[in-house]
Amino acid sequence: MKAKKEHAKKPAKKSGGKKLSVTSLLTIAQLQPQDIHLILDTAAELKAMQKAGKAHPLLKGKTLAAIFEKSSTRTRVSFEVAMYQLGGMMYYLAGRDLQLGRGESIADTARVLARYVDAITIRTDDHRKVVEMSKTAGIPVINALTDYSHPCQILADLLTLKERFGKLKGLRLVYVGDGNNVARSLVFGAAKTGIQLVMSSPAEYSLDQQAVEFSENDREKNGGELYFNAEPGRAVMGADAVYTDVWVSMGQEKEHAQRLRSFKKFQINGKLMANAAPSAVFMHCLPAHRNEEVTDEVIDGPQSIVFDQAENRLHVQKAILALLMGGIK
Ligand code: CP
Repeated sequence: MKAKKEHAKKPAKKSGGKKLSVTSLLTIAQLQPQDIHLILDTAAELKAMQKAGKAHPLLKGKTLAAIFEKSSTRTRVSFEVAMYQLGGMMYYLAGRDLQLGRGESIADTARVLARYVDAITIRTDDHRKVVEMSKTAGIPVINALTDYSHPCQILADLLTLKERFGKLKGLRLVYVGDGNNVARSLVFGAAKTGIQLVMSSPAEYSLDQQAVEFSENDREKNGGELYFNAEPGRAVMGADAVYTDVWVSMGQEKEHAQRLRSFKKFQINGKLMANAAPSAVFMHCLPAHRNEEVTDEVIDGPQSIVFDQAENRLHVQKAILALLMGGIK
């Protein structure tokens, strides 16, 4: 089912200046298309500099507080390395070790941290906590994942697709799996960059209607398209990229057995990938639950670009940090 008929398309506005239209990054939805292009272009420049061994201490002497109330490998390490490579420093703060874990409010935590550091990144469950932090901190706040949204991941994914295909507009991206925070952020990212996105999920784990409606204007303006097809074998036909995520996210462990039953036919395996174009790539935000949502043969196979996605977390977050923390004027 198509969510919305395709409308006359206007080209997305190219990034003009070196400033984002936002002072914090909470969701992809709040970004203008030109913000996304500015982040991706800046990330590509910083990546090239890093590969060439050219120092780029754009945030010399600046500091980032990183609050993690949930586990992380990629996000935590890439933010820490990003700050180091930009000439600054990150302070890792486990939520349970802070007074936040004993009931101090988000607002008070934000006001105190803002007296010490130049920006805050936070990974938590409830998206309202990130919103509250950004309202009270008075310094840039970056969402490192909430149950609602994972903007840094999707910006890294867009960079990875752009590197691979040389463009975003017009690509056919098929997401197979849970209509979760990653899926929701992909919907907004695709709508703002003119990607044709197909969502293939079991009915009970489909994307929320609010996200579909909320992103509709962006699809109209930027030439994106959104389709739903609950038959993964048909959904992946003609795909440039097939994307999946875990069936059981952090905090949903009690639903494990039920979810495995519901998602059984949504596994990305060799047979399913054979339905996509031979040039199609396989994407996953990681960590993967191997041989649940994806088989070893696909994630370790020649079509897999999952480690490029993981690497690009570093380059994209350097761009986000530099742009939000005044490293690029
Ligand atoms: N994709 C992602 O956010 O990975 P981590 O949970 O390891 O940070």
